[in-house]
Amino acid sequence: MKNFISVHDVSDINALIKKALKYKSDPFKDRNLGSNKRIGLLFLNPSMRTRLSTQIAAKNLGMEAIVFNIGQEGWTLEFEEEAIMSGNTAEHVKDAAPVLGKYFDVLGIRTFPSLKNRKDDYSELYIKQFIKYAGIPIVSLESATLHPLQSLADIITIKEHLPIPPPPGEARRGLKIVLTWAPHVKPLPQCVANSFSQWINAWNEADFVITHPEEYELDEEFTKGATITLNQDEALKDADFVYVKNWSTYKDYGKIYCNDPKWMLTDKKLKLTNNAKVMHCLPVRRNVELSDEILDGSHSIITQQASNRVWAAQAVLSEILPPSPKGK
Ligand code: CP
Repeated sequence: MKNFISVHDVSDINALIKKALKYKSDPFKDRNLGSNKRIGLLFLNPSMRTRLSTQIAAKNLGMEAIVFNIGQEGWTLEFEEEAIMSGNTAEHVKDAAPVLGKYFDVLGIRTFPSLKNRKDDYSELYIKQFIKYAGIPIVSLESATLHPLQSLADIITIKEHLPIPPPPGEARRGLKIVLTWAPHVKPLPQCVANSFSQWINAWNEADFVITHPEEYELDEEFTKGATITLNQDEALKDADFVYVKNWSTYKDYGKIYCNDPKWMLTDKKLKLTNNAKVMHCLPVRRNVELSDEILDGSHSIITQQASNRVWAAQAVLSEILPPSPKGK
């Protein structure tokens, strides 16, 4: 694996899941794989789970992880080529990234979208410029449009909770996964929803249904292959997994068109499903995105989902670590 930016960097999703689950059962089995190796974790935005799970994953592999809150503590970076830097940016990525490439063996980067200009956000300029200029493998810790480490942890969690197959002779029902939009008070990125859609489509082991209010269509690049409906009740029918997530509008970019609390998942709505497990990437706004009764109830697998972030990160780092020079 050269970089880890999207599902397209993974040659075999099931093999990566298997590897992650092996790490879950034996976290230190490759404790020397990353010895004498260092990962830099650059955060332009806040994080709890991604930051800590990636640090733990690196440590389990014997790697040193150094966190740099570049968005708060570093020089403000310029990403545009041929920029005349007479404004607020103090250092060009062209100058900073090669330095980081000398300090580290692998670089992780978290950067959110502006939600102001869709073309700019969806160009993924920040990640692309780091790939171009750092000269070492780049791991997305969530980019402007995707969150691949989250999606890998999501599929690992689904795999752990697959419904029990029927006894021999009885018809086997297909697996059904639903991604449902939920209300939120702030306009949020589409990253988690895009990424989950991209991975579930690529995994291709379930009927995948996306439900959202009018005007909340996601980019077809990620959703193509899924069934899309504006009717949440219809979508939830017989679902085995319900992934709850807010996102802001894609077409009229970064807006809130709907805040209807009717879209919040409740125990009553869950009765439509096949005893579905409920997922969310966290952080979650209680009783706005998801009700207390769901979050504190037996259907939620959200804590396990977040804990699986460690094994997802460990599997990816183990694949991306450059080989040690002979004799090192
Ligand atoms: N789900 C997720 O990425 O959480 P953090 O923003 O806390 O890293």
